[in-house]
Amino acid sequence: MERKVGDFLFAWLLILALLMHPAWLVLGNMEGDALHSLRSNLYDPNNVLQSWDPTLVNPCTWFHVTCNNDNSVIRVDLGNAALSGQLVPQLGLLKNLQYLELYSNNISGPIPSDLGNLTTLVSLDLYLNSFTGLIPDTLGKLSKLRFLRLNNNSLMGPIPMSLTNISALQVLDLSNNRLSGVVPDNGSFSLFTPISFANNLDLCGPVTGHPCPGSPPFSPPPPFVQPPPISSPGNLLVILSLNV
Ligand SMILES: *[C@@H]1O[C@H](CO)[C@@H](O)[C@H](O)[C@H]1NC(C)=O
Ligand SMILES: *[C@@H]1O[C@H](CO)[C@@H](O)[C@H](O)[C@H]1NC(C)=O
Ligand SMILES: *[C@@H]1O[C@H](CO)[C@@H](O)[C@H](O)[C@H]1NC(C)=O
Ligand SMILES: *[C@@H]1O[C@H](CO)[C@@H](O)[C@H](O)[C@H]1NC(C)=O
Ligand SMILES: *[C@@H]1O[C@H](CO)[C@@H](O)[C@H](O)[C@H]1NC(C)=O
Repeated sequence: MERKVGDFLFAWLLILALLMHPAWLVLGNMEGDALHSLRSNLYDPNNVLQSWDPTLVNPCTWFHVTCNNDNSVIRVDLGNAALSGQLVPQLGLLKNLQYLELYSNNISGPIPSDLGNLTTLVSLDLYLNSFTGLIPDTLGKLSKLRFLRLNNNSLMGPIPMSLTNISALQVLDLSNNRLSGVVPDNGSFSLFTPISFANNLDLCGPVTGHPCPGSPPFSPPPPFVQPPPISSPGNLLVILSLNV
């Protein structure tokens, strides 16, 4: 009998010890882990990431991180923070992330294709950094995305056709990069004007004003005719026939 009580207590103490151990907490905290690997990959001269302590139960008390009621990360706000270094693929593990704000830093390297796993993302702001490489095709999976601003980086290659599938997209800025190839004009892209694509290496298609090689030239816009004051339906017919 005594022996059994002793065993029972020992088992419980063992479980308690395991639960209290920082390594166990880190293992149980995938989102904090993901953010901590981001911190490890960034140079942070102003110590804005100082509160990012990986031994805490979750990252919800860290500065620049916002969680929902289930202690899952929904925002990372690190705009204008003088950060350099590179992003990490583990960011794709923040499964409830809605806002990833990393604008106006000096972050370089590629945009990880794993960001396409953030299917609840509403805003992806990576503008004014030093990103290189391609815009990942996987970003087309971000069906809730409303703001995609990648302007003022050094991104190259084509604009992925998959982005036309993001029907929620309201604001797109790809200007001031080194993109080339055709600018889509269907799907969500029917909303966007030349400003979204300005100052790239070699973009073509209707919205740019440069026809793509091998495609027929654009039909010129109809000439502008100063409409005379409309007084009768007869006059209207004359205007219409002048325009043809
Ligand atoms: C993102 O999804 C892809 C494809 O499903 C998978 O291979 C990759 O491991 C995921 N990345 C992360 C960080 O979970
Ligand atoms: C950005 O980083 C590059 C090197 O990666 C450095 O040469 C440049 O001065 C940095 N710019 C700013 C504004 O910190
Ligand atoms: C973005 O880049 C363009 C071209 O280099 C530059 O004129 C513009 O000032 C930049 N935008 C900002 C906000 O710095
Ligand atoms: C757009 O989405 C549809 C449906 O999910 C898919 O079949 C299609 O391949 C996508 N288009 C592009 C260009 O990715
Ligand atoms: C836009 O057109 C391309 C082919 O030109 C196609 O692959 C893509 O799925 C289209 N997007 C939508 C949303 O229809």
